This record gives sequence, structure tokens and C-alpha cells, in this order.
Amino acid sequence: VLDIGKLYGKAGVFTYDPGFSSTASCESKITYVDGDAGALLYRGYAVEDLVARGDFLETCYLLFYGDLPTAAQKRDFDYRVTRHTMVHEQMVRLYQGFRRDAHPMAVMVGSVGALSAFYHDSIDVEDPHQRMVSSIRLIAKMPTMAAMAYKYTTGQTFVYPKNDLGYAANFLRMCFAVPFEEYQVNPALARALEKILILHADNEQGASSSTVRLAGSSGANPFACIAAGIACLWGPAHGGANEAALRMLADIGRPERIPEFIARAKDPEDPFRLMGFGHRVYKSYDPRARVMREICREVLAQTGVEDTLFQVALELERAAGSDEYFIEKKLFPNLDFYSGLTLQAMGFPTAMFTAVFAMARTAGWIAQWMEMLADPGQKIGRPRQLYTGSPRRDYVPVTKRG
Ligand code: ACO
Repeated sequence: VLDIGKLYGKAGVFTYDPGFSSTASCESKITYVDGDAGALLYRGYAVEDLVARGDFLETCYLLFYGDLPTAAQKRDFDYRVTRHTMVHEQMVRLYQGFRRDAHPMAVMVGSVGALSAFYHDSIDVEDPHQRMVSSIRLIAKMPTMAAMAYKYTTGQTFVYPKNDLGYAANFLRMCFAVPFEEYQVNPALARALEKILILHADNEQGASSSTVRLAGSSGANPFACIAAGIACLWGPAHGGANEAALRMLADIGRPERIPEFIARAKDPEDPFRLMGFGHRVYKSYDPRARVMREICREVLAQTGVEDTLFQVALELERAAGSDEYFIEKKLFPNLDFYSGLTLQAMGFPTAMFTAVFAMARTAGWIAQWMEMLADPGQKIGRPRQLYTGSPRRDYVPVTKRG
């Protein structure tokens, strides 16, 4: 806390908090993270319970409305979502404008933002009914659009949604079915994906959720706000970490090389970090990582994929868990540590991992956005800065400089 009077000649206090590690930007009733106890609650429900017994659309309902749905409410919500899974046929041309080798997240930033150009009613963000319509459209279309981003990079034709399938099953089919070939969704993999989506659905004010709130605080179109969240999520310190974690496990390759990588992560001269380790808020075990580890085990058993890297991951977790550096700095595996392995075993290429994360986190982003707009005290987000640049200077014409 600085004396603002000394700095700017005005009364009051001014907090300088890089990375906002001790500054609450909002009040929220959606998600509670107890970083010391390693607990994550959505609207008061433990994420582990929701994963074990619920499905992703039920979690969306919970995040949006605040309570779990009754059976009739759930039927109605599922119906409303599945009616909106298609995207306008002109979107196909938008996808075709990207290079074939575009990263799916680059395509997602562009294509989700472009939905703003299709739904002019969505700009009426003051109307709660309209906000819900946009939210349902987003939840419904994200799997279709993520699958299109994937199909586009493979050069295959897009697969339309099949609305009698569940949310995750539909997505798997849109990604992996090919024309003229029979494709049956493996129900165990669809169930595993539902669990993965629930685990990723919200995590209070993470960088991407804060980005969505900040973008939305100006009254911007919801599709543009979610595109901003996708852009933020893409970074390797956030959602891109699962891709980076898998790459790191592949680089390690075998358990004997773990000490070398642990030594590098501890070396202050080496920028290398153990990807999938550490979290701004979870200072004890990330509860999502524990669940994800078990989902990974189930998916590997189901697909028969060789689990060499899973063994490396287990051993790395064990080795870091008994190392003073990691204990002292409270660095434990986070959600991303096992999710890359799991998604890879399901058949997704690494570039799609963050797109799956974005699909799931859209639920949380939307819930945060709706909560913010419903708050009568809501203001445009406008962080202050601590100016450390030059004092006022006189302008010198270009001919007299140097
Ligand atoms: N490996 C080795 N050392 C680490 C790691 C790591 N993964 N993470 C943090 N540290 C060390 C830092 O070097 C720092 O050491 P110092 O005190 O000697 O300077 C100390 O721990 C604190 O690290 P910060 O970067 O200040 O912690 P912060 O809370 O800002 O960062 C973050 C959290 C970004 C997640 C960090 O732990 C990290 O980079 N992890 C790897 C990337 C990752 O897995 N990201 C996924 C986040 S979870 C998610 O998006 C779902």
C-alpha cells in the first residue's frame, strides 16, 4: 500500500499488486477455492461429487442458475442447449479462410468472436433473458466449433452434431467420425470426457475468467468476451500448460531422467519449470489433479494405450513430493499435469487440448459474465497503474534531436 498523496498529490491509498495476488476484483457466489485445504466447490458442491454423479450440462445449469436442476428443469435445459448446436453454414467459409496448419486455439479465438456477427440480439446485454439466450448458444456451439477447428486441420469434412447423443459423446463423434465409416462412441470415453469437462468448468477468478469479466464490464458482446477468454487461456502459464506438460513428460521419456529435470526446475539460473506443477491459489494438492489422475488411469485401461508416460508422471509426482524445494514452495501437480496424457490417450492431438479446456471453461466464463452484469454495483473494470516513466518533457522537433 503506497501513500497516494506522495505519489500523485491526492488523498487516499493506492495498492500496487502485480498479478492481483491479494486483490479481489469482484464479489462472487459461483465457485469457492480453498487453496490451503485443496478444495473446489461449485455453488457449494464439491467438484469431486459433481464429477462422480453428475454430467456436464447439469454443472452448466448449476453454474448459471445457482442450484442443481430438478429432472424437469434438466430435460428442458438439455433440450434448449441441443437446439442450438448447429452453426450458420457461412461459418464454414470462415474456417476455410484459415491456413490448414492453424492452431485450433487461433481458429477458436477468431470463430467464436465471429459469432458476434451472426447474433445481433446478443448485444442487448442489459436484458437477463437475452443474456441466457447467448449463454445457451455458446454452450451449445462450443463443441461444434472446437470439433470444426480440429477437422479443418485434418483436412476432413465437418461432422454435424447429432443431438440424440450426450454433450461429450456428440463432441467425440464430431471429432472422430469420418464419412462412409461406421463410428460408435465408446460410452466409457464419453463418460470420462464428461468428467474432464466438469473438472475444468470453473475455477473462480483465473486469468481467463478475469479477462472475460474485464471485457464484459464495458458491455461488450458476449461472443467477443468469450473469445477474449479463449485468447487468455491459450497461454502456456494457463490452459496451454497441459500441452506443455505432455511435451515435458515426453522429453523426460523414462523415469531415470527425472532427477535431471527436477534439478533443472530448481536451478534459479534455468528458466525451466515443471509444467503442470504449481498454482497461484492451490497451495496444497489441487483436488482436480487427483480426480484427473484416476480418469487418466481409466482411459488408459479403456484404450489400451501404452502407459509409459503415465508411469513417468506418477514417478515425477512422487519424486517432487519428497523434494524440499517443491515442499517448501508448495508446488503440487495441478489439473494440467494429467489432462494432456488423458486427452492424448482419447485420440486428441496436443493442439486440441486447450480447445477442450476452452469448451469446458466456457461454462464458468459465462456464469461469471452473467453474475457480473446482474450485479447492480457493476462498474467498468479499470485497474490503476504505478507510473514509473519519465516526468513531463518538452517536445523537441525531429531536426533538433540527437
Ligand atoms: N516448477 C518449478 N518452480 C516453480 C514452478 C514450477 N512449475 N512454479 C513455481 N515455481 C517457483 C518459482 O520459480 C518461484 O520461485 P522463487 O520464489 O524462488 O522465485 C516460486 O515457485 C513461486 O512461483 P510464482 O511464479 O511466483 O507463482 P505464481 O503463483 O505466480 O505462478 C504458476 C503460478 C503460473 C501456475 C506457476 O506455478 C507455473 O508457472 N507453473 C507451471 C505452468 C502450469 O502448470 N500452469 C498451469 C496453471 S493451472 C491451470 O491453468 C489449470
